[in-house]
Amino acid sequence: MALKTIEWVPDGARRRVPGRVRLVDQTKLPEELVYLETKDVRELWTAIRELKVRGAPAIGVAAAMGVALAAQASSASDTPGLLKAVVKGASYLAGSRPTAVNLFNMLERMKKVAAGLAGLPPDRFREALAKEAQAIRDEDAAMCRAIGRHGLTLLRDGFTVLTHCNAGGLATAEYGTALAPVYLARERGWKVRVFADETRPLLQGARLTAWELMQAGVDVTLICDNMAASVMAAGKIDAVLVGADRIAANGDTANKIGTYSLAVLAAAHEIPLYVLAPTTTFDPAIPDGRHIPIEHRPAEEVTEGMGRRTAPRGVKVHSPAFDVTPASLVRAIVCERGIARPPYTKSLAGLLKSGASAGPVARKRRAAS
Ligand code: MRU
Repeated sequence: MALKTIEWVPDGARRRVPGRVRLVDQTKLPEELVYLETKDVRELWTAIRELKVRGAPAIGVAAAMGVALAAQASSASDTPGLLKAVVKGASYLAGSRPTAVNLFNMLERMKKVAAGLAGLPPDRFREALAKEAQAIRDEDAAMCRAIGRHGLTLLRDGFTVLTHCNAGGLATAEYGTALAPVYLARERGWKVRVFADETRPLLQGARLTAWELMQAGVDVTLICDNMAASVMAAGKIDAVLVGADRIAANGDTANKIGTYSLAVLAAAHEIPLYVLAPTTTFDPAIPDGRHIPIEHRPAEEVTEGMGRRTAPRGVKVHSPAFDVTPASLVRAIVCERGIARPPYTKSLAGLLKSGASAGPVARKRRAAS
């Protein structure tokens, strides 16, 4: 997908700073393709909180760019002052959303890089952080391509998959995680069909997944969330592909609310459910899904999510944004380094050991344990 979900745009041609963050405002899709451009950390925080930029990997990229903005906005004239601005900006951005571990991993990475820049002239310091944030974006795009290659080995020409929420190009730097094998299959000339859950309450499946697949010319059919069982029972689905916001050491996976129900349905119909996510979404410091912080969203997203009131005023609302799918319901976890199979405690740890980009939070915690 050619669309750039999020990028750092330098003001001038020669240097990376001063610059600004440019992102697709996903709250406006599918009606309008509008970009938000900002140099303001607070505006970026709001963009993350309000899901203008969303999806775990894209949130991680946004957070990294936010730290670069914080350094840029600081008037400090030495590195201790700039470092202070970086730490303050990172801790502010950490409060935007709690579940996707990519956000915390990327903030830690930016702080670590900043700490290593002591003694640089202020402009070089700011420039190095903008460069690091762009490297994070580019690495994310490369990880998605690799996830597509590994994921495709689980599928065959002519496959039909069911997906939930949006784990496509819009949720990442580009290309997506759960949708990466779909795009790769298309590039290889395979026949591929996708059923997309609309994904209440905020309709990421209807607004974003259906939109981006149609833009790419992929055969996509939209269903309401409560139709998944019937399409499975009708034998229409070969596999369920979903993304993740955080994967615990034992493979328990937090993803958009409704993923767990889909996993139960898939198991009942003996359909494999695969989780596709980069290692930046792994949290090996968390033994299992009970330790994953689950974001709760405002009641209005349920009662007036479609622009008009659809529930009585004053009704009690329960609105977790994510649920945890137990590892026992996940057939395999696909990341950029390969495919993990149960038992996940062993296979995920093996994949993390096989490379150096496990995410600094994870690495730091591992080192401390
Ligand atoms: O609330 P959102 O839209 O940020 O939730 C996104 C999801 O749950 C995605 O499935 C997940 O982040 C993986 S994106 C590759």
